[in-house]
Amino acid sequence: MEQSEMKENAGKAAVDALIKDGMKVGLGTGSTAIVAVRYIGLLMEQGKLKNISAVTTSLQTEMECERWNIPVYSLNSRRIDGSLDVAVDGADQVDGRGFCVKGGGGALLMEKIVAYSAKIFAVVVDETKLVERLGLTFPIAVEAATEARVSVSKALERLQGRGVVRLAVRKAGPVITEHGAIILDTLFQQPIEPSVMEDEINHIPGVMENGLFTKIRPRVFAARSDGTVEERE
Ligand code: A5P
Repeated sequence: MEQSEMKENAGKAAVDALIKDGMKVGLGTGSTAIVAVRYIGLLMEQGKLKNISAVTTSLQTEMECERWNIPVYSLNSRRIDGSLDVAVDGADQVDGRGFCVKGGGGALLMEKIVAYSAKIFAVVVDETKLVERLGLTFPIAVEAATEARVSVSKALERLQGRGVVRLAVRKAGPVITEHGAIILDTLFQQPIEPSVMEDEINHIPGVMENGLFTKIRPRVFAARSDGTVEERE
């Protein structure tokens, strides 16, 4: 089975299991999360899902919601009131404890705000994302103020990390996030304790957020190449 088919299966399984009429739903970013967005849109179009209020994590997701007529609100709006029933998002890696690395698509700040504001955080992945250890093979995205590029790099070195400025495609120079910041993609030389490292990175002045998600235990929907979707809590 192709990876794209596994992504389809994971995204749809989470929606079928968790999204009900009237819910306030956080919608993630990336190719797997977008499957869930499109599927919610389709179910709404068919009248099988009603009265959904969405909060999006990126311009990509906002545009997809527009396409599917999914009503989008600010997390601050009266209707949403700072909390969500469910958030559905992809991940770059997930370990056996459900700790995640996210931010491959550069939307980590809003993704974390949305995930941590949800009663249920659903992570939709294919089996290639399941790993034993985080931080060694897929870099942790560290979103930082542009003025803090060098100081944050040095602070990451003190944590045994090497941050590389993420470069844009079809634009000269770095990626600039939707919050006007740069991203330092950071690999570590030795195994990290993700929950400790999430806090340590965020204590560096100038860091806006990092891509370790360890403070909320997700429900992981992991699609297998045999066509099944394993749910882990
Ligand atoms: C976006 O910033 C990311 O956190 C994505 O959710 C993550 O990179 C997974 O993306 P794919 O589903 O496209 O692999």
